[in-house]
Amino acid sequence: MRAHPAGPLHGGLAQPTAAGAPPADLGVLDPQVWPGSAERVDGELHLGGRAVTDLAREHGTPLFVLDEADFRGRAAGFAAAFDGADVHYASKAFLCGQVARWIAEDGLHLDACSGNELSLALAAGFPAQRIALHGNNKSLVELALAVDAGIGRIVLDSFDEIERLIPLAAARVESGGAPVAVLIRATVGIEAHTHEFIATAHEDQKFGFSLATGDALAAAVRVIREPALALAGIHSHIGSQIFDTAGFEAAAHRVVGLLGQVRQATGEVLGELNLGGGFGIAYLAEDDPVAPADVAARLRAVVAAECAALDLPVPRLAVEPGRAVAGPGTVTLYEIGTIKPVRLGASGAPGTPLVRNYVSVDGGMSDNIRTALYDASYTCVLANRTSDAAPALCRVVGKHCESGDILVRDLWLPSDVQAGDLLAVAATGAYCWSMASNYNYLLKPPVVAVREGTATEIVRRQTLADVFALDAVLAGRAADSPAPSQPAPEHPVGVHS
Ligand SMILES: Cc1ncc(COP(=O)(O)O)c(C=O)c1O
Repeated sequence: MRAHPAGPLHGGLAQPTAAGAPPADLGVLDPQVWPGSAERVDGELHLGGRAVTDLAREHGTPLFVLDEADFRGRAAGFAAAFDGADVHYASKAFLCGQVARWIAEDGLHLDACSGNELSLALAAGFPAQRIALHGNNKSLVELALAVDAGIGRIVLDSFDEIERLIPLAAARVESGGAPVAVLIRATVGIEAHTHEFIATAHEDQKFGFSLATGDALAAAVRVIREPALALAGIHSHIGSQIFDTAGFEAAAHRVVGLLGQVRQATGEVLGELNLGGGFGIAYLAEDDPVAPADVAARLRAVVAAECAALDLPVPRLAVEPGRAVAGPGTVTLYEIGTIKPVRLGASGAPGTPLVRNYVSVDGGMSDNIRTALYDASYTCVLANRTSDAAPALCRVVGKHCESGDILVRDLWLPSDVQAGDLLAVAATGAYCWSMASNYNYLLKPPVVAVREGTATEIVRRQTLADVFALDAVLAGRAADSPAPSQPAPEHPVGVHS
């Protein structure tokens, strides 16, 4: 991973030629990468039947545009592929009230990773029985919320947490309620990212109970002996953006082994195996994710074979896709501002200096931290028009005070892109809005759901008044600031158009 300190000048992070050769058509929308409804109409990008210039005019930029049919189609696709298993939408990828309702209506379960994600889902009316709560440091308050709401599963992550939960569960049982249903999160010693997986001996990370040290078995035994808890099964999550099934298969082998150990130690046959999320998506045209149906078939076969080998009944499977449901259907629209050609040390064609155009947009790492945080790769297109101009080597950057504030590291854009043009970055539905910040006091963008020609704002743009309300001085709560100040006028959206 690239590491760089905050500050004004830390260039040279990538080779100038990392963009490869320019594609024949710079405006093409690869169906692997763009939402199902993305199309060019008279050169302009349309999403869900709406022209991007209209969306930008009505809602401002930066703007997350979510293709409802794409999102729901992927959720339904996972449910169909894993028919007979439980598909939990990992809501950390992107959650709001409307998404919680879609997921509820479409029959999926939902994972929450904090008390507040759980509260949001409950407030949106999501059925408590279909919610699981994750987290490596669940507080007493979060556990009490989960127990009181009667959620379906609490995924236990530490011995501390087991002891924290027991009094709450016991109180529920004493007042006539059912034991609290839990899973044990096992760390199986496999960490998978993208194309490869590695098996780690020491499992040096914060999540779960180690299988290798015997902690996972000890935790299962502890829970089984506690009458106020009901151990439903085992959970394992091995990583993210995984493009093959080998890591899942290795994990399945190990967790089924744990089911066998639990039976041997306690006589209990556990009925559930949750293999987590991590299914990869295409951020770039060359990415090649596995279809949910293929993953499902492979996992079913592996679990069945492992169970047969141990003479165990096949447990009910569960999976937790987040990115693969939310990621591909959303696009971020930005307006281009400053364009700065920067001469690179390396030279291009003989006698021609190689120039990279730094194309600055009106958002950045506050609405998409993934490039800076994980060195993630994205692609984007000129969205309001197509152009026949020659390709220019570009880097799309935000407006934050960080040289690592990069959205798309290396790509080709038409050389006539100019201030006021719209750029659309593909596949920003997962871990972008949900990781958004107010760095440099930029405001979190709205999310607009588009479908068959209609656009509905499902999350409104944060306002400066929202942000000022938190500030003791500006909101008049400080001892020496008797009168609340008025928020300054907001920076107008779309300054060039
Ligand atoms: C326990 C668990 N389940 C599911 C997910 C969702 O992963 P993804 O969005 O890659 O499918 C995560 C992501 O970190 C996770 O930690």
